[in-house]
Amino acid sequence: MRITFHLNGEAIEIEADPRQSLGDAVRAAGFTGTHLGCEHGVCGACTLQLDGVAVRSCLILAVQAEGLDVVTIEGLEADDLKAAFVRHNALQCGYCTPGMLITASELLESCCFPDRAMIRDHLSGNYCRCTGYQAIIDAVEEVALARHLAISGARL
Ligand code: FES
Ligand code: FES
Repeated sequence: MRITFHLNGEAIEIEADPRQSLGDAVRAAGFTGTHLGCEHGVCGACTLQLDGVAVRSCLILAVQAEGLDVVTIEGLEADDLKAAFVRHNALQCGYCTPGMLITASELLESCCFPDRAMIRDHLSGNYCRCTGYQAIIDAVEEVALARHLAISGARL
């Protein structure tokens, strides 16, 4: 089937099997930052944004993206969050990291100043087998504070 959608801001037309997952389709299109782990909706590694919402791309068929906006880690505009992950050593193997960043970014966009409990809850569907999670929470918390201070400062 031919499918047309926007991928990281660019219109794209692909040929996909009706049963192909969106995760496999974006990887076949060259955006291999999206990682497939469990392939049944548990680990969160495959998370990307579909029309602004973080979704598990192993559970979405490519054909369901017809006409929609898809953002993968390659198109995610969250340089402060990416830098914070590096600063805090919030990744080791990095396999979970694209999904973590997409999910954390969704939270930071929807709530300007989430606390640690909210960050933990929002990331609870993203598994990491390397870091122990503390550094990941630290990185997201730091960005939440920095963005909050930037907004507060702008309003003074
Ligand atoms: Fe999609 Fe694990 S690969 S949730
Ligand atoms: Fe290895 Fe998260 S950094 S699984």
